[in-house]
Amino acid sequence: MAGLGPVAWPPAPIRTERLVLRESEARDRAAFIELFASQEVRTYLGGPRPRDELERAVPEVPGRRTGVFVVDLDGAMIGAITLDRRGAERPGHVRPDAGEAELGYMFLSEVWGCGYAAEACAAALDWFADVLPGEPVVLCTQAANDRSMRLAAKLGFAEVERFEEYGAEQWFGVWSSITPTG
Ligand SMILES: CC(C)(COP(=O)(O)OP(=O)(O)OC[C@H]1O[C@@H](n2cnc3c(N)ncnc32)[C@H](O)[C@@H]1OP(=O)(O)O)[C@@H](O)C(=O)NCCC(=O)NCCS
Repeated sequence: MAGLGPVAWPPAPIRTERLVLRESEARDRAAFIELFASQEVRTYLGGPRPRDELERAVPEVPGRRTGVFVVDLDGAMIGAITLDRRGAERPGHVRPDAGEAELGYMFLSEVWGCGYAAEACAAALDWFADVLPGEPVVLCTQAANDRSMRLAAKLGFAEVERFEEYGAEQWFGVWSSITPTG
């Protein structure tokens, strides 16, 4: 997926009630590997990747590019949020020229159920609305991914369509800072 584009990056760390959204650092490497190696986290994302392969492949400072926020709780990484450009070759678009900003999120399973993902994603969407006012954000998630579906609804994403991809039903929704929902 292409990076977000010409926005000033990284922004100053974004503070929420309990969390900080910041650029990744070398000390986050183990948490990145855990996210990609975790059976639970990767259930609806193509499955876990072998830990030894990740240990070899993951760079010293993973995820250091425009649109990748590390979510930090009390000084430790608990998840990652991405805002990327959705590839034109993928199904699901809301603009004729494609390339929509797309939200992605992965949190370590031990912190699920605390509202951290909702708190962090809302802050990332606020940041996005500030830097690219009026631009929609899209989200694609497996319809069977109940937690992700609940989060999408809570954040104010509205269903656009559903389609089959990767052998599963995908839910495709859109969020806009200028069309508040719910
Ligand atoms: C999708 C994912 C981020 C959702 O995480 P989550 O912790 O369930 O999401 P939220 O932050 O919205 O937390 C919601 C839960 O916290 C609870 N909660 C507890 N304290 C809370 C608080 N202070 N504020 C808000 N909610 C709180 C809510 O009641 C809710 O509980 P429920 O799940 O029993 O309904 C997580 O499951 C994940 O990382 N999955 C793997 C990656 C993935 O599939 N990503 C999708 C691809 S885009």
